[in-house]
Amino acid sequence: MSFEARALRDALGRFATGVCLITAVSKDGKPMAMTANSFSSVSLDPPLVLWCLQNSSDIYALFAQARFYAINILAQEQQDLSNHYARKEQHEIAPEHYRTGKNGAPVIRNALVSFECELEATHEGGDHLIIVGRVKEVSQRPSGKPLLFFSGGYRELH
Ligand SMILES: Cc1cc2nc3c(=O)[nH]c(=O)nc-3n(C[C@H](O)[C@H](O)[C@H](O)COP(=O)(O)O)c2cc1C
Repeated sequence: MSFEARALRDALGRFATGVCLITAVSKDGKPMAMTANSFSSVSLDPPLVLWCLQNSSDIYALFAQARFYAINILAQEQQDLSNHYARKEQHEIAPEHYRTGKNGAPVIRNALVSFECELEATHEGGDHLIIVGRVKEVSQRPSGKPLLFFSGGYRELH
């Protein structure tokens, strides 16, 4: 390899993304969220999407196994939610931040878009697990700008 891990991380970070909260209910019934920007669309028919979960996450077991979960694309003014749910041991969702979706997964209030998913498949991907979900419900805000992430920092769409 002709590059250092840091250089690879920096280069990958120059792919501008949105920011999501992945949400699911824990075995003991608590609504949980984790910040992620590895979301990608996969297929329209059938409707499939993916995200990647780091193997070292404290809440790996929850998100690797959750049958129902939601992928919530954050709006520009939800940066505080992104920061909050990216911290260790701060994944339980505050009651004011969610409603319960059709299949029981927490849906984040005022997100730009929420995809309620059923687990379709998982694939090992090095130090991450690739989680493919089938979209069961889509809810959208009629307007609003996305929260963006680029080169290690948040950005705004002008
Ligand atoms: C902008 C941003 C994007 C992130 N994307 C991912 C991701 O795609 N997959 C992932 O597993 N963790 C991602 N993380 C880290 C998680 O949010 C994770 O919760 C954090 O490392 C806390 O560690 P824990 O999961 O062990 O509690 C991201 C964090 C930030 C701030």
